[in-house]
Amino acid sequence: MKVVTTRAELARARAEVGSLGLVPTMGYLHEGHLSLVRAARGANDAVAVSIFVNPTQFGEGEDFERYPRDPERDLALLAAEGVDLVWTPTVDDVYPPGSATRVSVSGITDVLEGASRPGHFTGVATVVAILLNATRADRAYFGQKDAQQVLVVRRMVEDLAIPTRIVTVPTFREADGLAMSSRNVYLDETQRAGATALVEALRAACREWTAGVRDGDALRAAMTEVLARQPQARPDYVSVADPDSLAELDTVDPTRGALCSLAVRFGTTRLIDNLLLEPEPAPCGNSAGR
Ligand code: PAJ
Repeated sequence: MKVVTTRAELARARAEVGSLGLVPTMGYLHEGHLSLVRAARGANDAVAVSIFVNPTQFGEGEDFERYPRDPERDLALLAAEGVDLVWTPTVDDVYPPGSATRVSVSGITDVLEGASRPGHFTGVATVVAILLNATRADRAYFGQKDAQQVLVVRRMVEDLAIPTRIVTVPTFREADGLAMSSRNVYLDETQRAGATALVEALRAACREWTAGVRDGDALRAAMTEVLARQPQARPDYVSVADPDSLAELDTVDPTRGALCSLAVRFGTTRLIDNLLLEPEPAPCGNSAGR
């Protein structure tokens, strides 16, 4: 496994391999990240992982300074996965002195995480554009855990004609359903126990959906009720939105389905999770031309 820091070192190492799958991360790796690495294996000649806590995607008062870091453990985990290349740039390697360009995706960034964290997605879109261009990755792997991030990255890549294929990997969960996240280490014991309320709320909405409920408010209420049983949980948003535009829905179109998502604070820790309400297949015999 080759570990490189500067853009020049990266370019040299990149030139030695054929097709490349990139897994962009901020480190403090867990099984969720490793599931992206495993998805990249097999589909590419080589797998690269970037580890960079990107300052531009953290807002004032967010956890940039205290974001958990453990580079040695990260490298050991990646070596054990058979990763070929790890890029651990400094802030100056990613944003060289004089760097003045930002990538801003409009529309879908106005809601949900974008509304709660102004500027966050400009930081994400900018760093992902740099990571994809610098690595010349053929494919890049992102977790469904950050559903809005995937939509923003797909939009950006299409709009800027970046030739990397974006692959979405399902959310990897703990045995009790909690979505894995580097931020879970911030939770104390009672918060950790209560944090399963997120996935329980999403599953409650999914049960309603399966039972035939299509009303957006009813689905949101199903989630809010579960969260309300957890006195420590302070919901930031509870959403039932169109899976592409992220517009909040009054009624879910059964042929389009919906993205249920939520952000909940436990003390100073903010957790997010989501679940897709899958569209119903069109009735047989109704498709045009058959
Ligand atoms: P980070 O939070 O480190 O996550 C890196 C990647 O791992 C993201 O694509 C994220 O969606 C995915 N991931 C995290 N937890 C997951 C889980 N439980 N199951 C599946 N995938 C999971 O997301 C970022 O970093 C940054 O915004 C980044 C894209 C690296 C840009 O700085």
